[in-house]
Amino acid sequence: MTEQTPTVVIGSAGRRLYLIDWFRDAFTSLGLEGRVVVTENDPSSASASYGDLARMLPRYDDPAYGPELLGMVDELRPGLFITANDYELMHLHVTTDLAQAMRERGVLVPGVSRAWQRACADKLLMAQLLTRIGVPTPVTVAGGDTEGIDALRRDAEELVVKHRLGSGSSGLAVVPPSQVESAVRAAARTAPTSSSSITAEDAVIVQPKAAGVEHGVDLVGDLTSPGVLSGVLARRKLRMRAGETDKAVTVGPEPFLDPARRIAEAADLAGLIDVDMFLDGDGAVSVIDINPRFGGGYPFVHLAGADVPRYCVARAFGLDPGASWQEYETGVVSAKHESVRVTTPAPGAPGAAALSPGEPAVTAAV
Ligand SMILES: Nc1ncnc2c1ncn2[C@@H]1O[C@H](COP(=O)(O)OP(=O)(O)O)[C@@H](O)[C@H]1O
Ligand SMILES: [Mg+2]
Repeated sequence: MTEQTPTVVIGSAGRRLYLIDWFRDAFTSLGLEGRVVVTENDPSSASASYGDLARMLPRYDDPAYGPELLGMVDELRPGLFITANDYELMHLHVTTDLAQAMRERGVLVPGVSRAWQRACADKLLMAQLLTRIGVPTPVTVAGGDTEGIDALRRDAEELVVKHRLGSGSSGLAVVPPSQVESAVRAAARTAPTSSSSITAEDAVIVQPKAAGVEHGVDLVGDLTSPGVLSGVLARRKLRMRAGETDKAVTVGPEPFLDPARRIAEAADLAGLIDVDMFLDGDGAVSVIDINPRFGGGYPFVHLAGADVPRYCVARAFGLDPGASWQEYETGVVSAKHESVRVTTPAPGAPGAAALSPGEPAVTAAV
């Protein structure tokens, strides 16, 4: 393959090998001989040797990360760069200008504006941004805001306490109003704090338990016209495991379209973000969380027929994505399962010398 080979870079795919497969499938279905380059920090991670080409990068917070990333971009000239890691996203879009530097080199880098990227990592800030644009979200106060908590206590039957900068359901507790103080203290003990000097209790948030049933909703913004909503793909969560959707059933996007449009426009959305929304019996929606990347819920709509990788690859290489990438069957139930692959063969093991990136040595469902 030459330097002109259509190239997509996927950073920190980690356990999500399906993303690598689906971007490869996208090249095939569009008739392109492309390659998926995988960047990782840990050469023994499941994804590191699973792409067509592997590139190790320093950790995002290593000073060498930026120069090596841009060096790789100059060498491989990808049309699209995505990453599945929240810290790497913050580093690319907020802490540095690396996302912009890649865009100036002609790479499509999906994402949201700097303010929204920051808010995606800070649940208090997110509640403020959502409220400002008229998207319903639970009233959210900091753990140290005693007046705010008193006001919540008067109205809500159950309160949710969780880490303000958390992910993977960290610090989560659902408690009756009488137990909120002790729940805040408990969550504060393990709460991550930002470099700015907030107290441990203010690194926790409290909000009413949202009414209704939880859904995962992917919002896809036009990759070349940020802010224009191109697709909405939804599933009802049937079971969560380790903070991720484990089983879900696909549903139509209609109830989520209005908040989706508002978020996409306000956040200058380009590409896919994963949004947690509650839908109550009256059809009212409440947004509780946004992950600005492919999240653990995307597979449920992909397996029902949607194909966001195809949309991304088509846009990145000047092809017409058509409309079918956002069509999927509703009522499809899917469940995750485990699988494992050798990432570092024993020296001298049969096939060890021949193992090359893109050639999974052994993969087994468990
Ligand atoms: N206000 C809320 N009402 C009901 N359930 C909630 C609320 N906040 C969080 N949860 C539950 O906790 C899970 C994790 O919370 P979330 O805000 O999505 O944080 P993260 O996914 O970043 O850890 C959600 O998927 C949902 O099941
Ligand atoms: Mg969430």
